[in-house]
Amino acid sequence: MLLGATTVVLSCVAPLNAGARLKTKEYAKKYIISLHDLKANEPFYFSYPESGGSKNSFIVKLQEKAAGGVGEDGDIVAFNQYCTHMGAPLEGKYNKVYKVMGACPMHLSTFDLTRHGMIVSGHATEPLPQVVLKVEGDDIYAVGISGLMYGYRENPV
Ligand code: FES
Repeated sequence: MLLGATTVVLSCVAPLNAGARLKTKEYAKKYIISLHDLKANEPFYFSYPESGGSKNSFIVKLQEKAAGGVGEDGDIVAFNQYCTHMGAPLEGKYNKVYKVMGACPMHLSTFDLTRHGMIVSGHATEPLPQVVLKVEGDDIYAVGISGLMYGYRENPV
């Protein structure tokens, strides 16, 4: 009887999580920063997809090739900076030695920036949403978000 109940619960939850994780939403191209202004291992914070308001995203040159990375070395990545567990801001928590964001100040979740923001440790169950980047000449643009930002049922239009 217990096995039957477990099967029912899992079959209801798994498709919702899988859909949210893989979804990429495209937005109008937005200028973020130039390649020559982006310093290695110094995150630059910006608002995305909206302009103004809180700087909810960051871009960083990891000096290590990363999944989804752009630039000559494939080492420039960007993510939403709010922890996917309960939305704590992660600003100031970049660890340049391990190329991770975290530990989160609330419950210690840590995200690997070389592997699409996947969880290394902590309570979060979803990776950090990755900002999709495009380079044109010396300019870096954001063009979309892969994954669901904390606090949204769907990423904003
Ligand atoms: S809010 Fe970040 S681990 Fe809970």
